[in-house]
Amino acid sequence: MTKPSQDWDPTAADVLSNQVAAYDEMRLRCPVAHSELLGWSLFRHEDVARVIADTETFSNVVSTHRSVPNGMDPPEHTAYRQAIEPYLGTEKVRNFEPECRVIATELLAPLASGVQIDFMDAFAVPFAVRCQCAFLGWPEALGAPVREWTRRNRDAVLTADRAMLAEIAREFETFIVGLLDERRRHAGDVAGDDLTTELMRVQVNGKPLTDAELTSIFRNWTVGEVGSMAAAVGILAGQIARAPELQRTLREVPALIPAAIEELLRVDGPLVSNRRRVTREVTLGGHRIAAGERVSLMWISANRDETVFEGPDSARIDRDQRPSLLWGAGVHVCPGAGLARLEMRVALEALLSTFDQIVPGDASPRRLAFPENGWASLPLRLG
Ligand code: HEM
Repeated sequence: MTKPSQDWDPTAADVLSNQVAAYDEMRLRCPVAHSELLGWSLFRHEDVARVIADTETFSNVVSTHRSVPNGMDPPEHTAYRQAIEPYLGTEKVRNFEPECRVIATELLAPLASGVQIDFMDAFAVPFAVRCQCAFLGWPEALGAPVREWTRRNRDAVLTADRAMLAEIAREFETFIVGLLDERRRHAGDVAGDDLTTELMRVQVNGKPLTDAELTSIFRNWTVGEVGSMAAAVGILAGQIARAPELQRTLREVPALIPAAIEELLRVDGPLVSNRRRVTREVTLGGHRIAAGERVSLMWISANRDETVFEGPDSARIDRDQRPSLLWGAGVHVCPGAGLARLEMRVALEALLSTFDQIVPGDASPRRLAFPENGWASLPLRLG
């Protein structure tokens, strides 16, 4: 058996300074690489696709903490997934579009033309937080704690601080249970028919979801996804600011925006990795991996694999997106993709129609580090 060794350090300064380039290099040099933090990282498209298709060998139950539905395997996963999927479905997403557009317009309105702004602070982060709160029917004031949890959660993942992760999870649970109790007290009164009250009525196998299950769902949809959404919106804005021709094309033919979103995020993705636990010995990239070990699906790298995407670094909006793993694949494929696509399309449409020019600012942008990707700060000039 190959003894796990430290083939790379996902938190080394040279990796964090440019994650995308570092993963490209790993894919070529050591495509199945072990590290203390991530277990076996899979950088090739082929390996990631194999793992997500085989839920028996690669389990999503990676922690003692029960995560709904992403920390579950079929058949338990199937029941929960079917129960919650409609709440992220086409109709819910379509109904949310007007509110989403109001949020985008309100955030862009005060951005003075020609003045340098940090796009992450001024738009991407508040847009993601406000959209998620509005989608769930939460008051805007809850945006601040959600933002704070997202930040602390990221720091705890980076330092693998289990005690801190548990503490944040506990705080979030107290917060959500308070929110649920308030709705129960006011049921039929001020608690309207928003998504949160609808989810409280969901049944799985004939039983209502427990508070712990509801907390887990809300945690994934907020603390888990606000970061990916903000990162995605920032990555898109940063890319179009550096590509004036693409910007012109999208302004002239807004119908191309959805295809551009998929391709720009294939080149530089917002989500770095997800985990699986191996249930029986397997061989990956010539390494024998024992039952119980962890593997990490390196999404950004898989989507830049040159054996699948010719010229992976160049954004071609007419590229065939079928092999893209931006949203994952198989039973855990992202159920929030429709909502995420809507929010990104609305953000780009609003940005491109409000400003004739979106250009990089004078200050240097700063990249986000693992476990996130994208921009920590993105100076842009909108004019
Ligand atoms: C640009 C933004 C997003 C990207 C790139 C993204 C990507 C992904 C990917 C790759 C997976 C598969 C993970 C795996 O196989 O382990 C996933 C799962 C998931 N996503 Fe997203 N996501 C995004 C936004 C969202 C949003 C906005 C929501 C909901 C509000 C959401 C909810 C979920 C859930 C609940 C799962 C777990 C599904 C399951 O295990 O069955 N995502 N996402």
